[in-house]
Amino acid sequence: MSEPLTFALAKGRLLDETLPLLKALGIEPLEQISGSRKLLFETTRSDIRLLVLRATDVPPYVERGGAHLGIAGKDTLLEYGSDMLCEPVDLKLSACRLMTATRVGVELPKTGRLRVATKYVNVARQYFASQGRQIDPIKLYGAMELAPIVGMSDVIVDVVDTGNTLKANGLEPRDLIAHSSARLVVSRVAMKTRYHLIAPMIEQLNEWVHQTNAA
Ligand code: PRP
Repeated sequence: MSEPLTFALAKGRLLDETLPLLKALGIEPLEQISGSRKLLFETTRSDIRLLVLRATDVPPYVERGGAHLGIAGKDTLLEYGSDMLCEPVDLKLSACRLMTATRVGVELPKTGRLRVATKYVNVARQYFASQGRQIDPIKLYGAMELAPIVGMSDVIVDVVDTGNTLKANGLEPRDLIAHSSARLVVSRVAMKTRYHLIAPMIEQLNEWVHQTNAA
């Protein structure tokens, strides 16, 4: 048998939604993933194995051939910005919005570089450039809601779902930058070399999305 198809998954909230989806496709890890220190899991399908990675590491693993395909949020894919990846299926999981947010009632400075706290530095730079503003990005890995409160930034760029986190921290959403949801991501190379294995999976996933959203 040829080398198994390697599927990169993002740990955290998205994993909880991804595992039932894979189960519906007949793909189940042979060992419990949650609580395990392992990073690579064999599955009930001998031709498929799973990698469990940080969400931001899924695009580089797929792009560089460490995995043939993966599941990643559109927010992460926009930030990574690779033209070597394709997104054949919108899984419609983990839907959220990439937005700017400021302290409630506070106007942005009209001139000068905006101080933007975010883990989406590339997205933020592109968005504010499209608005004719240059930025002074502050790269953070979490809790960016604090930055405007302590006076470190004028604005944040982050994903918003319910809006509760912004509200709880005295912030309000401003501009919508993009809608996000989980995507099947495949490298252009694997799409060619593994098409016979990947095409049926795309078909199954499209069917699953169709059924789930019709229900
Ligand atoms: C995200 C985001 C916000 C929160 C928004 O964080 O960074 O903090 O969710 O959700 P809400 O609008 O429903 O309040 P997440 O919990 O995914 O953790 P992270 O900071 O590790 O990304």
